[in-house]
Amino acid sequence: MRLPSTLQHGVSRVMLICLTPVIALVIPIKQETLGATSHDVFPLPTHPVLSTGQTVMLDGVPYYLPPEPLTAISLPDDYQPKVGFSALTVFKPESLPFYEEELEVAVESYLRQDDVFSTAFLQAIYVHSTKGGEAHENGALSRAALANYNTRLVLTGSTDLPRGPYFLSADGSVFQALRLYSDTQGAFSQGLVALPDGSYSALPAALPGISAVAVPSRLYSAKIPSQPLAGVRLAVKDIFDIQGVRTSAGSRAWYHFYPPANVTSPVVQALVDAGAVIVGKVKTSQFANGELATADWIDYHSPFNPRGDGYQQPFSSSTGAGVGVASYDWLDLALGTDTGGSIRFPSQANGVYGIRSSHGAALLDRVIPLAPQFDTAGLIARDPAVWKTASQIIYPSTPFNWPEYPRRIHTVYTDPLNVSDPIDSMVSDFLEQLAKHLSANITDINLPTLWEATHHHRPSSNVSSDLAEVIDRIYPTVIGIEQARLVRDPFFADYKAEFSGRRPFVNPAPRIRWAYGDSLPEGTLKEALSNRTEFRAWIAENVLRSNPDSCSGSLLVYVEPATRHPLYRDYYRELPTIPFGHAASMISVYAGVPDMVLPIGEKSYASEVTGVEEKSPVTVDLLAAKGCDGMLFQLVNELARVGILPEIKAGRSLVSGGDILF
Ligand SMILES: *[C@@H]1O[C@H](CO)[C@@H](O)[C@H](O)[C@H]1NC(C)=O
Ligand SMILES: *[C@@H]1O[C@H](CO)[C@@H](O)[C@H](O)[C@H]1NC(C)=O
Ligand SMILES: *[C@@H]1O[C@H](CO)[C@@H](O)[C@H](O)[C@H]1NC(C)=O
Ligand SMILES: *[C@@H]1O[C@H](CO)[C@@H](O)[C@H](O)[C@H]1NC(C)=O
Ligand SMILES: *[C@@H]1O[C@H](CO)[C@@H](O)[C@H](O)[C@H]1NC(C)=O
Repeated sequence: MRLPSTLQHGVSRVMLICLTPVIALVIPIKQETLGATSHDVFPLPTHPVLSTGQTVMLDGVPYYLPPEPLTAISLPDDYQPKVGFSALTVFKPESLPFYEEELEVAVESYLRQDDVFSTAFLQAIYVHSTKGGEAHENGALSRAALANYNTRLVLTGSTDLPRGPYFLSADGSVFQALRLYSDTQGAFSQGLVALPDGSYSALPAALPGISAVAVPSRLYSAKIPSQPLAGVRLAVKDIFDIQGVRTSAGSRAWYHFYPPANVTSPVVQALVDAGAVIVGKVKTSQFANGELATADWIDYHSPFNPRGDGYQQPFSSSTGAGVGVASYDWLDLALGTDTGGSIRFPSQANGVYGIRSSHGAALLDRVIPLAPQFDTAGLIARDPAVWKTASQIIYPSTPFNWPEYPRRIHTVYTDPLNVSDPIDSMVSDFLEQLAKHLSANITDINLPTLWEATHHHRPSSNVSSDLAEVIDRIYPTVIGIEQARLVRDPFFADYKAEFSGRRPFVNPAPRIRWAYGDSLPEGTLKEALSNRTEFRAWIAENVLRSNPDSCSGSLLVYVEPATRHPLYRDYYRELPTIPFGHAASMISVYAGVPDMVLPIGEKSYASEVTGVEEKSPVTVDLLAAKGCDGMLFQLVNELARVGILPEIKAGRSLVSGGDILF
């Protein structure tokens, strides 16, 4: 293997402690069995054998090694495993010598911070010293301590390698250690690995069960100002382009028809530039349309909601994003999109933080559109601090520091809260604490009544005084017409030309929505958008007004009715319907304002699957004026800090974690 000379790290001093001889099973290759008695050597290999990396097991745990080593170190002559790898850990203590107590403290701290490192990586240790000196001076790192960790090799020197676990090959090449996890919930469309040129490829590894995802050590990355997301593990909804990888958009035909993306979507690239590590793409319902598990998911199987009995509806369309973050503590963040609820529904159902951002806050180049007038990008997370930091990256023009908070909370309920209902009483407790924290007053408002009373105040307004009549048809009109024009028509034309006049298969949900768009008379899109503009201006003037100190004069709260009751994924359903509506979840879509999902706890339900009481998430949605996403992030972080919002766990319960049921 040839490495650039700049990558050859000098090891200033190597000390070999031969506690036990290195055990290496070397099977000699008997030349005569190859049967070659003479050679023909050709000038150039026509088909070079390319490594795609390799998988190894260490102490019962599977790991993946990328094809290219990070560096090479010269190994002492008397340390000579002829084949295979040793597991190596790099330590970077403040000063030398590195006493055994410091080694123990460092090992404990590595174990606490990282799920990739284990004590099995202490076979070889590399102690970095900028100041020189030796790790083993004056009895530091005694043989007894090293024997305790089964350490066979101690290297002292200076290296650019970040601290943490690695694999060391017999020739001194050092490879990153990525731990392999099983995607037991089927959240991912594929695990990905970064290539040296900035593109990505499918992870060439599998584990028992479903597909595998590889995550690098958390120890590799130090958070520095230019890399606030260093080491944060990110999954990306499979409608964003990632260079080198095919985008599926939840369609088998689309995935196989179009070549791999040659550019990474800028919003994804911004997260990577800030230090985030893409670990894979996560499943979307087809072309980001709303689909319910399981019947609507014809082309790909819907991911599994980890909460409660494990067979509740995961909702869509950022399904893999919501399920992945709710299921796996090894995943920090998922990037999704919300056009009419696609981040919010999976966040509510799976019990994680999610946001539909102010419209226009994030760049949406290289993302398959549903309707540009309503499409937004947003992140799903368990930790509100990581969620906020990453959102600052993808919403670069949004202000995040506000001196004050809104002093008015409006609730919009279809029914008044019923304090003997367990969900309502939890919501009511949360609102009481929120109001106290903000010194704010809570008022319930009825939007149709308020509309009737006030919408005529807009001189230009000639729309109906029946709010439902004005807004019901906007969503299906805009998405039906726009996605047919932007996605279906070019796709069908390309496919038709390639496959002698044929049409590709499309799932029922997008098919029915596109057909609705086709059925509308000329001018309906313009009319729908004009109704949208009326509603948006009315919300900004009457409900969510801008404020110079608190960004938004008020907050608006609702509880999504669709996630109040158990909804099992094995129910047989009618065909998908046209998504008419004026539900509370549509306010942010039409008004372009931010809408955040906050998990506040969980409720019990009698599970039809397990036959016992199980727990499922309870969430509230919080809205503010357009552009006030940053104020909401700031507020939510504060509420989590003071304990008004619970710490969110991955697993069966959002409150206590636990193994997911299968
Ligand atoms: C990427 O591919 C598209 C066609 O799919 C092409 O128009 C574009 O120029 C390519 N961009 C780069 C950077 O190669
Ligand atoms: C809240 O209500 C009280 C009593 O009705 C009133 O005195 C106070 O000014 C209100 N606060 C706000 C922020 O509206
Ligand atoms: C309030 O909730 C309780 C418990 O779920 C229920 O029995 C009762 O009928 C509800 N009352 C109203 C007015 O909906
Ligand atoms: C627009 O609003 C009017 C009521 O003012 C309603 O009759 C019409 O159906 C709406 N059009 C669309 C496309 O939403
Ligand atoms: C309202 O007025 C605008 C122009 O003034 C017109 O284009 C639109 O069709 C009208 N809408 C209705 C529902 O009458």
